[in-house]
Amino acid sequence: MTRLGVMLSGRGSNFTAIADAIRDGRLPGVEVGVVLSNREGAGGVDAARSLGLPVRVIPSAGVERVEHDRLMVRALREAGVDLVCLAGYKRVLTAEFVAAYPEAILNIHPSLLPAFAGLGVQGAALEYGVKVAGCTVHFVDEAVDHGVIVLQRTVEVADDDTPESLSARILREEHRAYPEAIRRVTSGEYRVVGRRYVRIPPLPGKKS
Ligand code: GRF
Repeated sequence: MTRLGVMLSGRGSNFTAIADAIRDGRLPGVEVGVVLSNREGAGGVDAARSLGLPVRVIPSAGVERVEHDRLMVRALREAGVDLVCLAGYKRVLTAEFVAAYPEAILNIHPSLLPAFAGLGVQGAALEYGVKVAGCTVHFVDEAVDHGVIVLQRTVEVADDDTPESLSARILREEHRAYPEAIRRVTSGEYRVVGRRYVRIPPLPGKKS
């Protein structure tokens, strides 16, 4: 079994999408080892508790970042986590945390990276005038929104989109993208070549 450690700070809809995929048998060999949050009031914490999953809240307020990350890594280790999934975890990981789980931390970001890293990106993409937006699931490295891309899903931008309507459409794609990315990574059928995530065997008809 691959044990996931899902880390979240907010409403937790991506976590719920992952939990649904496990329940529906779309992620064979995968289970949630622990849901970790830095915020007791997070919607995702309530969702995880109501699913009967192990939850730990380690408040970050007033705690040094390095110290907080150490506590988080310890909790992940205690839960036997193999793959960490950031799902709306609103903190940047320390280098020490990243080094504790090499090529085993995923994040989901609501833009087509490397465009629009950071926060408020759906509104920023709309304002910039992009015609295609989307989401990215990537490995986490020491730089923000930067690691190797596992997969991306796109949505078309409509002329009458608002930041809210575009965010909602991207979120629907996030809920498809995250379980699929977890499936691909936990299958082990890939290698990382430079910055490229390449499936093994490569998809037919795609010359590299
Ligand atoms: C998502 O838009 C995700 O891409 C970003 O934070 C948001 C989390 O939403 N990293 P939720 O808590 O999963 O609903």
